[in-house]
Amino acid sequence: MEKKWWQEAVVYQIYCKSFLDTNGDGIGDLKGVLQKLDYIKELGANCIWFNPLYVSPQVDNGYDIADYKNIDPAYGTLDDFKKVLEEAHKRGIRILMDMVLNHTSDEHKWFTESRKSKDNKYRDYYIWRPGKNGKEPNNWGNYFFERNGSAWEYDGRTDEYYLHQYSYKMPDLNWECEALREEMYSMMRWWLDMGVDGFRLDVINILKKPAGLPDSKAVPTLTNTKNGYIVDRTTTANVEGIHELLKEINRNVFSKYDIMTVGEISTLKGMETLPFFAQDSHEIDTVFVFGVANRDEVPASPKKIKEFQALLLSMAKRNAWVTQFLNNHDQPRQVSRFGNDTEHRERSAKTLATMIHTLVGTPFIYQGEEIGMTNVCYPSINDYNDRYTVGRYDALTKNGMSPEKALAKLRPISRDNARSPFQWNDRENAGFTSGKPWIKVGDRYKEINAEKDLSSPDSIYKYYKDLISLRKTHPAIVDGLTEFVDFENENVISYTRTTSRETLLVIANFSDKTVEFDIGNELASFKWKTLLANYSDTAAVPEKTEWRPWESAVYSLEF
Ligand code: NOJ
Repeated sequence: MEKKWWQEAVVYQIYCKSFLDTNGDGIGDLKGVLQKLDYIKELGANCIWFNPLYVSPQVDNGYDIADYKNIDPAYGTLDDFKKVLEEAHKRGIRILMDMVLNHTSDEHKWFTESRKSKDNKYRDYYIWRPGKNGKEPNNWGNYFFERNGSAWEYDGRTDEYYLHQYSYKMPDLNWECEALREEMYSMMRWWLDMGVDGFRLDVINILKKPAGLPDSKAVPTLTNTKNGYIVDRTTTANVEGIHELLKEINRNVFSKYDIMTVGEISTLKGMETLPFFAQDSHEIDTVFVFGVANRDEVPASPKKIKEFQALLLSMAKRNAWVTQFLNNHDQPRQVSRFGNDTEHRERSAKTLATMIHTLVGTPFIYQGEEIGMTNVCYPSINDYNDRYTVGRYDALTKNGMSPEKALAKLRPISRDNARSPFQWNDRENAGFTSGKPWIKVGDRYKEINAEKDLSSPDSIYKYYKDLISLRKTHPAIVDGLTEFVDFENENVISYTRTTSRETLLVIANFSDKTVEFDIGNELASFKWKTLLANYSDTAAVPEKTEWRPWESAVYSLEF
């Protein structure tokens, strides 16, 4: 496989709204990003993925787009964006935009036109249907459990319903409509011609709808249902025709540029994801396979994480490039979910990163992860902003759960865990804003902040920096073959990465206790040099057999 720039890249994800506010309105902005480009450069990341920056009523923090070709005034102007692009490029940092193709805001001009009359030019841009027996066209539920729970909203003006798989303020687009497709292709080319380096493609596997929009046959459960309307991706995602559609998008847009496309495919967990991104599929370059990162799953054990990595590896062996991540703006903070965010916060944050940055695939860092930011724990449901958390709370309590229980269930998985403001320093509002932050700052900012990490020689930030520079100096991290060592071990994740020129060995204890780990006679017969470790006195292998809580190290073979 010919090497692409994005295989060597390290991507830093910016949720602009919570990054850095420079005008005191409590909302992060592009001038804030501009100020921090050197922070990102210093870390070593060379690509930024921006969550949506477009004009939006912010019902779903920008995933509800009202104008694809402009920047939301809360973030700045198009010129501010161009300045960020230029300054990032000067520093060797590429920019990925979030591209939301499944839906728009109901305030987008296409939709305000579409709802006016059945013969409006834009009617067919969205999915309109008459009701069935005085009810919605089918039993699909909306993902945010809004209103009565249905994925259909009635509009009296034309006496029809429109489909919205997310908020009723986010109508689904109709990709069967050729004019819509052409409009989307030209809009994407407009961004690429401006110089952006690629797209993260939002819920890309649900663009195509199942023929005839059949009812879901899924069994209703406490968590997928409100008033009998069911959120069921097995009916609504990955349906026949999705691959032809993606190939068409690729032909018309992606294939014409040297870009990175990374698709969000949250509902496929295994090899069935492969057709979207296998090298010869001509659809998208890579995907986020959720598996263990999915907040709705029980937090994975080290063994489960290893099994998931083995799955990614088997995809990679079939010429498909994967991504490495354990959190993003939709998931809880990784150190809280997979590590130990109290006693072993620093060590566990470093160990999780060790795995992400030394296994096959492009690593993604979600803002604040590099300083070990933790989940927030807001006292009241009123402190939460995320539509999913608030809607699901409503559905759970309506389904009979007590408010206390519902809040306790949602706290560790709320998307707001990732969306609290970036903790820059230990001063007011963690240095994020001089005004009132749009969402509460996490209460550990005096202990956990960037200023502190930047001034400490063995901080999490410093460790990330070292890991990223290993990627640049040891090609085996990008290209090497991977072989697990003692795959059955319950606590330790260990593997070698090998090219014809070097062999690296990684050992990481994913537990709160000291454990025994034996690398086996063959590996023990070699001489190893320590490249990086998260305890200052980690000994060389093979002498070392006891691994302390969350201890991890990267070794290289000495010839
Ligand atoms: C996935 C995005 O990551 C999430 O934040 C958003 O709510 C939905 N797609 C809808 O666009």
